[in-house]
Amino acid sequence: MRAQTVLLGYELGSGREVRIPVQHMAVTGITQQSGKTTTLEALIGRSGLRAVTFVTKRDEGAFQQATRIPAYFREHTDWRFVESLLEALLQQKMKFERSWIMRVCKGTKTLREIQKNLEVAMRDATRGLDESVYFTLSEYFEQLIPEIERLPYSKELKLGPGINVVDVSQYSTHLQGLVIRSVLEWVYEREKDVITLIPEAWEFVPQRHNSPVKDAAVQLIRKGAAGGKYVWLDSQDLAGVDKEIIKQVSVYVLGVQREVNEVKRTLAHLPGGARRLKPEQIMKLSRGWFYVSYGSELRCVYVQPAWLDADPERAKRFAIEELPASYVAKPETKRKAVHETKASTAETITSTHETKNHTHKTNPAAHEMETPMRPSIEEYREDIKSYATLVEYVTREFPDDAQHNGEFKNPVDVIIELLSELKNRRMSQSIITKPEPAEIDYSAVATEVLERLKASPEFTALQVRSERPELNVTVQRRVIDVDGSTLRGRTAQLIAAGWFDSPRRNVDLLKELHRRGFASAPPNISRELNGLAELGFLTKEGEGYQAVPGMKVNIHETEA
Ligand SMILES: Nc1ncnc2c1ncn2[C@@H]1O[C@H](COP(=O)(O)OP(=O)(O)OP(=O)(O)O)[C@@H](O)[C@H]1O
Ligand SMILES: [Mg+2]
Repeated sequence: MRAQTVLLGYELGSGREVRIPVQHMAVTGITQQSGKTTTLEALIGRSGLRAVTFVTKRDEGAFQQATRIPAYFREHTDWRFVESLLEALLQQKMKFERSWIMRVCKGTKTLREIQKNLEVAMRDATRGLDESVYFTLSEYFEQLIPEIERLPYSKELKLGPGINVVDVSQYSTHLQGLVIRSVLEWVYEREKDVITLIPEAWEFVPQRHNSPVKDAAVQLIRKGAAGGKYVWLDSQDLAGVDKEIIKQVSVYVLGVQREVNEVKRTLAHLPGGARRLKPEQIMKLSRGWFYVSYGSELRCVYVQPAWLDADPERAKRFAIEELPASYVAKPETKRKAVHETKASTAETITSTHETKNHTHKTNPAAHEMETPMRPSIEEYREDIKSYATLVEYVTREFPDDAQHNGEFKNPVDVIIELLSELKNRRMSQSIITKPEPAEIDYSAVATEVLERLKASPEFTALQVRSERPELNVTVQRRVIDVDGSTLRGRTAQLIAAGWFDSPRRNVDLLKELHRRGFASAPPNISRELNGLAELGFLTKEGEGYQAVPGMKVNIHETEA
């Protein structure tokens, strides 16, 4: 049975129930301050439909009660797909490079095979432009393929009732994109009546460039509705999301955004009803409050989170009386369980192969466990506008070596502790009483953090230390015997011959060795150059590696 409408929440003031049609939908709003994921989770639960989504952030607190399923991944080797990988990587459209991409993809069945073709193509490349395309792809594959090989993925997608979550938070955004693409294709080809929730839509289906998720998402959203396959997008704003996808959305759930120009851009994408909205209305929303628009409807709604499904009167009263947010906050005990189960899920995904073809439920015993979860700095990103400056400042003032000698803390830990304290204090002081933005004086908060940082013992200790600098360096001459028939030996010969006196890129070395009749592969070249830099024979200069002046390489010739 397909749900036609689903309860979203209650209208501001009147407390009337607001139901929305189950169609393609987008939920927007500032991270943490709007409550997008909470909204989506509640809607899926109440729709009774099956849904599949992805956890892409390590500190995601939602979907904890959902069924964890292994990642489903299908390897593609067609040139369009490889082109989309490259476009996502370089964040620009390919123009002339297509024929070279087609060439390396021809006749392949696995990404590994493409990687092999790339090595050959790179050696034989005659022009700088094709060489650099191949090299970028090759470097990319070099990172991606070992990651794919670590991913405990299943060859089919088994969706249970309710929300199914694929946890890819441990992997790079590129690999996350590949898994999301595979799942979208599976849903399109084989499922019925399933909601697919795409998190961080601006990142996975961006407007400005291609991505491996895009064509699968366009296909699903354009043709899926007939089979009850709906796409729900979770995105901070709509401006960055692909227009072809946004065109298919008919229900918009808009949470708080603070930047007037961003709000204007979001509103510009909306059809009919929502055009009446003024930017200030969006900017004044608080957590859990959204404007919902579909057709000519436009309402301001308090969204009933899933934890109030058993007590809807409370959610309704909140909407009518605009009570303090603590009235509807998620119960504290649940949050502890959330953190624990999160940690245990992450472990199973990375470390066991038994997770393949199995589903995971969260561990109810986790309630009893007390280990506190370290808050992520990401959580404070919106609150502390000068976050980047702060990190830059602390890493400059707490130099790297301070992290290793055991006496000093990692600067990021110091910031996290201070911020966590600040956040707790602010939360206990300012429980939001109205759907208006809490006034936060960002620069005052940042200044306070900096002041406290300066007063912290770690900082003082470092100050004292840096006032009396002492540096004892013992230089040890390393002697490494290498055989001229190995890659290291060949590279050492080139250092001795002065070939590295100006910076050389990996691909230059690969070609030079090839010219001298020695075959190697890009991963080995990268490893070797890094190794020689670590040993102090080379330094990494911009794009290439250069010999360290004064570094001696002795060549002893022996009879073969
Ligand atoms: N309707 C609501 N009522 C009460 N609290 C809510 C509501 N919605 C969200 N919250 C609380 O707000 C916080 C952030 O919610 P959520 O994770 O859903 O935000 P988000 O917009 O998805 O953030 P992000 O972009 O970082 O994923 C959580 O602590 C959640 O419990
Ligand atoms: Mg979220």
